[in-house]
Amino acid sequence: MPRMNIESLKRQAGEFAAGFVESGMTVGLGSGSTAIFATRRIALSLQRGELSAIVGVPTSLATEAAAIKLGIPLTTLAERPRVDITIDGADEVDPAFNLIKGGGGAHLREKIVAQASERLVIVVDDSKLVDQLGTAWAIPIEVVPFAWESQAAHLQSLGAKPRLRMDGDAPFHTDQGNFILDADFGPIADPAALARQLEARAGIVEHGLFIGMARDVVVAGVAGVQHLRR
Ligand code: A5P
Repeated sequence: MPRMNIESLKRQAGEFAAGFVESGMTVGLGSGSTAIFATRRIALSLQRGELSAIVGVPTSLATEAAAIKLGIPLTTLAERPRVDITIDGADEVDPAFNLIKGGGGAHLREKIVAQASERLVIVVDDSKLVDQLGTAWAIPIEVVPFAWESQAAHLQSLGAKPRLRMDGDAPFHTDQGNFILDADFGPIADPAALARQLEARAGIVEHGLFIGMARDVVVAGVAGVQHLRR
């Protein structure tokens, strides 16, 4: 699909989901090129006076910078431990609303904010819907730089092809200063079991599998926007 059309689908999904936000809410602000449309729409609604008393919890340094520019008041989980709603993107969504996230490397903060949220709304264009996770995307795995090669070898032993994410000639650094291994497992039969295996390994800080966390998925396609609920 031409890039402009994908942009327009992302916009439709993000703006639709922004409609779930109500005055007075603490809102998790997702990361990436789809969630930013929700963040922009929330800012516009605040400017127009359609929404008031919103505070945002950004899921990455990039989103924090964008929200500050847009004039959205921000808070932290220390001040507001419960988030009413978080709107975030995903790289893949399966029929049970399990997700792969972390295409932008922000999945650790995204998962922390999602776990503090009453409701996680995922916004995607319909190219992100898959029958099985791992079909088109590797799983982004944040690892501490110390002995990262040992985590790459471990992922290989689990059946993956891991690749160190680069930023030009140097390793990509997450907001925490860690590295990302993009681990291609191919289609994953049991994502929950794989998530548990990854969580058992020292040196793996967080993986991009989000199991059973999303309550709503807003999908934009050429035929329009669909709101899927669990
Ligand atoms: C950020 O690290 C990711 O988890 C994003 O939420 C995900 O990659 C979706 O991003 P896009 O909306 O840009 O595709």
